[in-house]
Amino acid sequence: MTSLDTRPALVHAPSATDGEWWRHAVIYQVYPRSFADGSGDGIGDLPGITSRLPHLAELGVDAVWLSPFYRSPQADAGYDVADYRAVDPLFGTLDDFDALLLRAHDLGLRVIVDLVPNHTSDEHVWFEAAMAAGPGSAERERYLFREGRGPAGELPPNNWQSIFGGPAWTRVADGQWYLHLFDSRQPDLNWEHPEVRSEFEDVLRFWLDRGVDGFRIDVAHGMVKEPGLPDWDGHVSMIEGSDDAASPEDAVSGAGNQGPMFDQDGVHEIYRAWNRVLAQYAGDRALVAEAWVEPLSRLARYVRPDEMQQAFNFAFLATLWDAPALRSVIEASYVTADSVGAPTTWVLSNHDVVRHASRLGLAEAGSRPNGIGHGDEQPDEELGLRRARAATLLMLGLPGSAYLYQGEELGLPDHTALPDQLRQDPAFFRTGGAERGRDGCRVPLPWAADEAGFGFSPTGVTWLPQPASWAAYALDAQRGVAGSTYETYRGALALRRAEHLGTGGLTWDNAFGDEVIAFENRDVLVVANLGADPVELPVGLTVLASSGDLPDATTLPGDTTIWARRA
Ligand code: NOJ
Repeated sequence: MTSLDTRPALVHAPSATDGEWWRHAVIYQVYPRSFADGSGDGIGDLPGITSRLPHLAELGVDAVWLSPFYRSPQADAGYDVADYRAVDPLFGTLDDFDALLLRAHDLGLRVIVDLVPNHTSDEHVWFEAAMAAGPGSAERERYLFREGRGPAGELPPNNWQSIFGGPAWTRVADGQWYLHLFDSRQPDLNWEHPEVRSEFEDVLRFWLDRGVDGFRIDVAHGMVKEPGLPDWDGHVSMIEGSDDAASPEDAVSGAGNQGPMFDQDGVHEIYRAWNRVLAQYAGDRALVAEAWVEPLSRLARYVRPDEMQQAFNFAFLATLWDAPALRSVIEASYVTADSVGAPTTWVLSNHDVVRHASRLGLAEAGSRPNGIGHGDEQPDEELGLRRARAATLLMLGLPGSAYLYQGEELGLPDHTALPDQLRQDPAFFRTGGAERGRDGCRVPLPWAADEAGFGFSPTGVTWLPQPASWAAYALDAQRGVAGSTYETYRGALALRRAEHLGTGGLTWDNAFGDEVIAFENRDVLVVANLGADPVELPVGLTVLASSGDLPDATTLPGDTTIWARRA
């Protein structure tokens, strides 16, 4: 970790122009089943999203990323796709999608959709054909079917474990086994197969032709496996929901430890081909990698000029609430992204991790438990929210592109006491409940404090129950209320845009001590006090934004961030 005294001040130089939208965009993740329900069945849908798009325009984000809404048996909440070109009836129709896209574009919002190329659903026609055709058939070649080990092939072909728990192989009736890095209902595709490659290029074109602005690529580091699928005794780190986060040192400079199923060099050829597909379309379309790889220099390889445009910076999300560690990750993020001319990205919450308002209220602030339930340590809700707001204001002050997860603009915590019998995440079932899973961060949003289901659905039905405490977080309880989390986000997003902070630079200001992260981005000074004690601010600052109340003009309380201009 770099110490305060030896650190060079200028880490990242500002750009003269804003450049392509994805270099600086704030992108809001919509998790369709939990955003807004138009039909009244308790599950969010595309018409529900369209009806609430004005909220996102008012909030001031630049783009929306939609998690999967494709035809799917929902074994992994839509990340098990049965038809990549169809909308699941649960969420609406293709016409509903077109209407959503049109409305978003009218409101000045770009739209990114999710692409899930590592695996299909077991209900995809290819997998059904593979099951019907049997061993040795061409149909099986599109997936990773193998004979088992042991005298009667009764042992899996290798020792890989599923990321959701249990073996990564399932045996079928004829004795063969197929690989699934996730649930058994998500068979991995064979990316050495030319038909798999051409099919996904075609799927990209299908959505590009409809007008989408880009794709978030699921498990972007997983499609190509080491030839021979060798045994591996390591365990997968930097995965969704894991508390096995890399240390900041590993994220910054570690040797990488992803094993033979992840981050293989061959994956980059796929992204170069996709880059060429996108280049045939006008309008700066973008690819963003969901790649849990370390160190950051490996991640930078996904965003070389002829590959993807962005990669999620999970090293930032995985870092504890600790100023030296965060400074180190922030600095390394710029150094590595700048080395390939890509924008840095920032993210604190998504549908796979405990929301940052809850993680930051844990005794080990910022740690990542695999979900939180009854009997587990319960976060300090007030402290978690205070820190979450400070973390967000720090993040939005950083140049680059930032991702927000639906509901964080309301300060939502996870549902940390969901009854186990209501849980749906396959990770909960495949680990026998040892992992609580990700349902706690996927609870339907509260829009109206006094309505049934907090206004999520016209019938009041919600597919997961909302905590009663969420009345205070509802949008209508915060809109227009000065100092509310919603208005703090809105104000910060407006300032970020007006001051061009997304394409600004980062120059450390070392005057505040080790517990404080302070830097200048253009002429905005960002000061985040991660310690518990107040720190003194220079005289004459004009405070532009603050994550919490300030007692006076020269004191910055603990767990608080400000944006300010010097006299
Ligand atoms: C990452 C997605 O974000 C997660 O929700 C999903 O379960 C896995 N990939 C498998 O598709």
